[in-house]
Amino acid sequence: MSLLLFAAFRVTLSTNPPNLYTDQSTLLALKSHITHDLHNLLATNWSTSISVCNWVGETCGSRHHRVTAMNLSTMDFTGTIPSQLGNLSFLASLDFRHSSFHGSLPTELANLHRLKYLNFGSNSFRREIPSWFDYFAKLQGLWLYMNNFNGVIPSTLGNLSKLETLSLYDNNFKGQIPITMGNL
Ligand SMILES: *[C@@H]1O[C@H](CO)[C@@H](O)[C@H](O)[C@H]1NC(C)=O
Ligand SMILES: *[C@@H]1O[C@H](CO)[C@@H](O)[C@H](O)[C@H]1NC(C)=O
Ligand SMILES: *[C@@H]1O[C@H](CO)[C@@H](O)[C@H](O)[C@H]1NC(C)=O
Ligand SMILES: *[C@@H]1O[C@H](CO)[C@@H](O)[C@H](O)[C@H]1NC(C)=O
Repeated sequence: MSLLLFAAFRVTLSTNPPNLYTDQSTLLALKSHITHDLHNLLATNWSTSISVCNWVGETCGSRHHRVTAMNLSTMDFTGTIPSQLGNLSFLASLDFRHSSFHGSLPTELANLHRLKYLNFGSNSFRREIPSWFDYFAKLQGLWLYMNNFNGVIPSTLGNLSKLETLSLYDNNFKGQIPITMGNL
């Protein structure tokens, strides 16, 4: 009997799916990593009393009501990217261009396997472009221009078979353009 109960309990725990509440806690983590909000957009707008689907910069899918697009471009935010951002598992489009995000990109972002569009252009990200960028198997557009990325361009970028646009100008790369880019 207790074994059965235990089994039932385990099932309840493990079938608790990520949902809109997960997206809310993810975005609250991001909010807490935004250290400067020039136009004071988030303080009142990103409020837990309304659905994240109505938060400025967020778009949800009509079927699952999960965040599918995030556009924080030109909102003049300063901050870093928390590892929790990798939990936005329905995200297809991420646009952070022309902001003041800095630091490095957490590995957990590799979980965003639905991403088609990623724009981190004109920020202050540093370190190397992560080699796991090829986890974004559906990626069609990648903009990393005007940042402080350095080191070599990872050869894994050549695995992005759906890629149509790539913009890397104004960074501090060294070495050669990987021969795998010829696969694109
Ligand atoms: C947040 O901003 C969005 C987009 O500008 C707006 O539609 C919404 O009403 C705002 N919500 C609150 C609570 O201010
Ligand atoms: C994000 O918003 C900006 C400013 O409104 C707009 O120009 C840009 O096209 C949007 N990005 C995406 C991916 O829709
Ligand atoms: C989100 O991701 C982090 C690690 O990246 C994890 O520890 C956490 O449990 C996740 N949160 C939710 C609500 O799924
Ligand atoms: C991705 O690219 C690397 C380096 O070019 C290669 O070694 C690796 O096998 C590729 N992975 C996949 C899944 O195609």
